[in-house]
Amino acid sequence: MTYPTARKVIIDTDPGQDDAVAILLALASPEEIDLLGITCVAGNVPLSRTEANARIICEVAGRNDVKVFAGRAAPLSRALVTAEQVHGKTGLDGPELFEPAILLQPQNGVDFIIDTLRTEAPGTVTLCPLGPLSNIAAAFQAAPDIIERVQEIVLMGGAYFEVGNITPAAEFNIYVDPEAADIVLKSGIKITMMPLDVTHKALTTRPRIEALRALNNRAGPFTAEMLDFFERFDMAKYGSDGGPLHDPCVIAYLIQPELFAGRHINVEVETRSELTLGMTVADWWGVTDRAANALFMADIDADGFFTLITQRLARL
Ligand code: RIB
Ligand code: CA
Repeated sequence: MTYPTARKVIIDTDPGQDDAVAILLALASPEEIDLLGITCVAGNVPLSRTEANARIICEVAGRNDVKVFAGRAAPLSRALVTAEQVHGKTGLDGPELFEPAILLQPQNGVDFIIDTLRTEAPGTVTLCPLGPLSNIAAAFQAAPDIIERVQEIVLMGGAYFEVGNITPAAEFNIYVDPEAADIVLKSGIKITMMPLDVTHKALTTRPRIEALRALNNRAGPFTAEMLDFFERFDMAKYGSDGGPLHDPCVIAYLIQPELFAGRHINVEVETRSELTLGMTVADWWGVTDRAANALFMADIDADGFFTLITQRLARL
């Protein structure tokens, strides 16, 4: 069943435990999200794992009907950089994994994005990238006519005051494919960004994880086991009392935008300097005359965010 209030959405993703929670939240929210498909990209782990992980997550949600596509196995023009140190070798370390029954769609994810944007009415499809922007940029390069048909891009990526997580200057999703990020940021499409500045305020504290573990279904305990593993890397790195739950911020924004606050500013990305490659240069104080091109989020109601996730995942 689709609801008249629901947005048509394509999630582009590199699961990744936090991506997985974002997918579960989307699947649990049909009133707000009509999920047209999930396109997978290489990022946290290679494409062969990200597409398998996306299918696993749909099965954990009891949604073997969801269309899952494999897109690009590498950035547009650079070698792939992965993050097994954060997510584990499978990309979904923590819970016991399994071979999903859901089959991968035969169509390439980039072609699915192009075909969907050409088929759906202009301005009715929102793209939600949760990983490197390689699939999105490749679709725009192959079919420039689809750019003006996109309703909005709500993405997880970038950092400014929070600085980088994969280098001192860059956030992982942007760093892996800075050329792709440059194409997206210069596309002219309405963009909402969830950078580390906001995601680092959404920490998986112990009570928040235990609330998920206590859910009387498969998704709750599975999610708690994913987060038990996922949080350890950032807790050791930052000395924080939880790990930042990055990607679900994108989906929560579609459901409850009032949980977030930010500024509409100019954001550009470094694509040449070795030292600061992938850095998102956010003109937060308006010191340039560069046109604003993104709503750059900086604050979140973290309790409201985790309450939303727990209440919605309880539905699965
Ligand atoms: O920097 C955090 C981002 O990189 C998240 O999307 C996480 O899943 C990884 O892809
Ligand atoms: Ca991700």
